[in-house]
Amino acid sequence: MGVFLTMEGPDGAGKSTQIELLRDYLSRKGYDIIVCREPGGTKISEAIRQVILNKDFTEMSHMTELLLYTAARAQLMEEVIRPALKEGKVVICDRFVESSAVYQGIARGMGIELVYEINQYAIGDTLPDLTIMIDLDAKTGISRKKEQAELDRMEREALDFHEKVVKGYREIAALHPERIYKVDGHQTIEEIHKKIAAAVDKIIS
Ligand code: TMP
Repeated sequence: MGVFLTMEGPDGAGKSTQIELLRDYLSRKGYDIIVCREPGGTKISEAIRQVILNKDFTEMSHMTELLLYTAARAQLMEEVIRPALKEGKVVICDRFVESSAVYQGIARGMGIELVYEINQYAIGDTLPDLTIMIDLDAKTGISRKKEQAELDRMEREALDFHEKVVKGYREIAALHPERIYKVDGHQTIEEIHKKIAAAVDKIIS
């Protein structure tokens, strides 16, 4: 079996940058790596992403949102993640079920039990070997996003929502310290990378 790594954090935490650095680091060590993102990573999941993040769909109910994220995940699991793990690859996924636990379970108030229960249908017993969580305050994260591109439906939520997300991640990380590695996102890119690489080395070698 391969190794399943997931990267989590509030919007603007720097996940993409850290995933690229981690991919290069592990490639140099000779690992066969697949990077995917959520929601997305397959033709169908990317189409679902267009629906979920469409800034005009402001009437989307919380349950619809949760089920769409879960559906996109089910397709990604079946088409990409499980086959890659079976082939012994290292899978790095940009967001996974912890995003649903935090955004839908905590910030939307649907409850983390419900989120994990529904996600059972999508992920079964395929859980990440390690989840890296970049911790960053909501204001910094969202102002970074504003500089980059037009904000999507989730990013347009009020600051209060993003603050709940940050708090939610801290809660989830504290609940599962054995499988979630929390790193302070206010450090330099290189400092954060070094810490992530060290945490991954511990489980991979
Ligand atoms: P991204 O911008 O990191 O690609 O993520 C898309 C947005 O979707 C981001 O605001 C977080 C949110 N999201 C959820 O609310 N629940 C989920 O399960 C996932 C995967 C993402």
